[in-house]
Amino acid sequence: MSLPLQSLAWGFRPVPFLLRAQQQYGDVFTIRIAAEPPWVMLGHPDAVKEVFTGPPDKLLAGEANQVLRPILGDHSVLLLDGREHLRERRLLLPSFHGERMQRYGELMREIAEDELATWPTGTELALAPRMQAVTMEIILRAVFGVRDAARLDALRRALGELLRFVTDPRTVAVVATLGLDRATRFKAFRSALGPVDRLLYEEIAAHRAAGDLREREDILSLLLQATHEDGAPMTDLELRDELLTLLVAGHETTATALSWAFERLLRTPGAYARLRDEAAGGDGTAYAEAVAHETLRLRPVLPVVLRKLTEDMTIAGHDLPAGTTVAPSIVLVHRRAAVYPDPHAFRPERFLGVKPGTYTWIPFGGGVRRCLGAAFALYELQVVLHAVARHTSLRAAGAANEGVKRRAITLAPGRGAAVVVRDRQPHRPVVAAPVPAVA
Ligand code: HEM
Repeated sequence: MSLPLQSLAWGFRPVPFLLRAQQQYGDVFTIRIAAEPPWVMLGHPDAVKEVFTGPPDKLLAGEANQVLRPILGDHSVLLLDGREHLRERRLLLPSFHGERMQRYGELMREIAEDELATWPTGTELALAPRMQAVTMEIILRAVFGVRDAARLDALRRALGELLRFVTDPRTVAVVATLGLDRATRFKAFRSALGPVDRLLYEEIAAHRAAGDLREREDILSLLLQATHEDGAPMTDLELRDELLTLLVAGHETTATALSWAFERLLRTPGAYARLRDEAAGGDGTAYAEAVAHETLRLRPVLPVVLRKLTEDMTIAGHDLPAGTTVAPSIVLVHRRAAVYPDPHAFRPERFLGVKPGTYTWIPFGGGVRRCLGAAFALYELQVVLHAVARHTSLRAAGAANEGVKRRAITLAPGRGAAVVVRDRQPHRPVVAAPVPAVA
């Protein structure tokens, strides 16, 4: 396939493009997209393992994400490599430890319930923007706390504006043509980024001036108390870059996963009813967890992760020269029939009581670059799934499956996960009815 055709296929129909190429060429093949150097696609879990357990100084992820530098800044953990990357990651990790997630749970539930109380009934509603409002609020409040409602409100609007600008197809087209570095010299770009920067620095200054950081639970307060191994605290510039990284990385991704979860649940007989029963019964979260795992398997938010080789390496038996970009393919690994029988079907049951495999379930990437917010996101998915299921009866607005539409780099439901809210009454607990096993 020619370069323009490959670029179009990657841009508009990435999933069928990858699956077809794998059928034709096997588990290792090269694709060429626009101005990017060729990517070597890896579709086998063993090859993925080689990359995720390989030496991080020879498999650079930050280098492969450079396109985000003008927005996220030089210190962003997403863009650094080697020792500098680990230095930043070490400071961010404690904010995302498993036991901290419970503390965010109540906040997540309240935000979701406030949002869904505003949903109209009996008319079509696109869930994707609603889920974005929920995840934006959750990440903002987790990162900053709720000390100053007016500043949070200003930040919410400025950030929304920036993300709308960045994901606008016209911006994506300009960036694809000029490269992000040159594109950022445009006034429109600076006007979108300027207010976010100003508000972030104001928020950092206000937190620094606060005398009660130790009592606070928000991530910025934790980061202000953290120090590098040499005892140095984080600078304002470093904080700005990491905060924006968390806000950007943690918002659209989770909203997209939630939208897909409802898109799939409502087209799978019995699935939403089963989630509602679990949510109403107060009897654990096993099914919601399985729904989150299966959604991220079948509809991963990102199709690939990227690593750039600094030295010649042999991967999956292929000798690859320095400079090659390898792309462990989330889409391809997740559709392997040998691992997931009937791989194109949405079946949350396959994950009930089953821990997803480290190299066969990779929606959050892996190795030293594995998504820092994975536990946070999975917890958020469960809490929001339960909150919506507890309070709403939904149906899909249309029987046809929604196609995959690219939004900048994420793969989102084509019609924004369109639903109709039938009823918004509190769901009565199901006491005696046993939950049927779904085949
Ligand atoms: C369903 C939601 C999410 C998905 C699918 C997702 C996916 C990913 C992926 C694929 C990577 C790259 C991993 C690699 O290269 O191996 C990543 C990195 C990252 N994610 Fe997420 N993410 C999600 C939610 C979040 C949230 C909620 C946060 C923060 C609150 C977050 C923060 C980050 C950060 C900081 C990195 C960079 C890690 C590093 O380079 O060391 N993500 N994410």
